[in-house]
Amino acid sequence: MTYSLSTNIQLVAPSHSPPQQEGSKQLYFALLEERGGIAGQIGELERSTSRSFLLEQLNVAAEIDVGFPTEMQSLPSMLLNDHDQTAQRYRHYLDGRHAGSPRRYFSCRSHAMYFLRTVAPTKLVDGAWLYGLLERWQDSRISPLIQTYLEELGCGNALQNHVVLYKQLLARYGCDKWQDGPDEHFTQGAVQLALAHHGDEFLPELIGFNLGYEQLPLHLLITAYELNELDIDPYYFSLHVTIDNASTGHARKALQSVLDCMPRIGNVAEFHRRVGNGYQLNHVGMGTPQAIKSFDLEQELLRVFADKALIGEKLHSDYCLVAGRSVSDWLSSPDEIADLLRALQSAGWIRRGENPEQSRFWHLLMDEQAPMFGVFNGYEQQLLRDWILDDAGKMSTTRAINRFRRRPTTEHVEGAPTAMQSGTTIAQIIAHHAREAPRLGACADVDALFQQLAGVDSKAEAFAVLSGMLSPANHPTPAGLAATRLYTDLFSR
Ligand SMILES: [Fe+2]
Repeated sequence: MTYSLSTNIQLVAPSHSPPQQEGSKQLYFALLEERGGIAGQIGELERSTSRSFLLEQLNVAAEIDVGFPTEMQSLPSMLLNDHDQTAQRYRHYLDGRHAGSPRRYFSCRSHAMYFLRTVAPTKLVDGAWLYGLLERWQDSRISPLIQTYLEELGCGNALQNHVVLYKQLLARYGCDKWQDGPDEHFTQGAVQLALAHHGDEFLPELIGFNLGYEQLPLHLLITAYELNELDIDPYYFSLHVTIDNASTGHARKALQSVLDCMPRIGNVAEFHRRVGNGYQLNHVGMGTPQAIKSFDLEQELLRVFADKALIGEKLHSDYCLVAGRSVSDWLSSPDEIADLLRALQSAGWIRRGENPEQSRFWHLLMDEQAPMFGVFNGYEQQLLRDWILDDAGKMSTTRAINRFRRRPTTEHVEGAPTAMQSGTTIAQIIAHHAREAPRLGACADVDALFQQLAGVDSKAEAFAVLSGMLSPANHPTPAGLAATRLYTDLFSR
């Protein structure tokens, strides 16, 4: 059934055929790995599977009551009220902290790093759902959302591209091994990628989802505060506090797009229902509060050791005995890892409740030229450190001291095109970008991109070539960033 609501926007009621079962994780990687070359298209199998998955998740979302208003007129006041409540609750949190309350979210530093890994599948497709709107660039009601997407992509500036920023954050703290998480870590990311490729059919759901995603949640504020306190750069999170603001930021644009897209002569009630369903779609899968609560220091450490055992089982000599057994023997039984850790404590190799420097085992990992140097990444080292300390209270409870000040906004990327005068033709603008695009790294892709643009002299033609390179899979690459810069330049004219 098709609802014709206005000149450009068609509402197609999703058919509720039984969805195919597909693991979120498998679909997530399939959608990201299917780069589709410059067209940014996914294959037919991924298309049908992701559509089924989206329908399934929308059905789940339909049962989640988050207080979405029954009347569209109430929407602005509801959002304003939510924003005020968030501000008040954050004030209450800060007052508590200043009065000496402990951290609310992160028991220790490895807990915070665990959180960064757990939400990585979602953060690494930040903004993806908006990709599905690029082809509507001529629709003034959608333009603010395309602008939002371009800003998520840093307008082609790698230092401001949210996905690139999050990748750098993970790498900086040794948290970039996130791919082995369970299926539930990938559900939100898979939803966002599915929306990216079904923007036509699910437009009301997409703009409803965007409305929900761009609201300022309390957990974002607290997360930024406590990461800073634990010496972890909170920039990615604090950036979203400012960029999503309800006054002029993405939250404002999100609301305006819902109001602008509301049908004038079509089925308003159905539009409203579908926007609400999309709004609720933000709550499927594992969200920030659940990700934080799911941490168990000892279980996480045992998981890491079991993981190491798979690789290290055959690599230890038999000279070293723990409780009369060789290390290789211990590691051949992953179920006995907890016993191994107890044996290491009994033998005095690990001294819990003391500074890790007092533990011989710690030095086997950390000292230069130590036998296990480099085996544990930054996150895993922090886990072991916190577990040996055996008391989160010993961790720093220093109030946020702004170690990580807001980074200066980079308005110009080295080698990126400088501003051009108005009145220049599209072909001249493209040639300008082709000349000035940085040729670091995969310059072959950048050259190939501009070869595809040879002879193009209209926005429509240029966008037809460029859009695919702005896909969630392509945009954080050198050619994707070059395409985003050119797209942003043309879009603003
Ligand atoms: Fe973002």
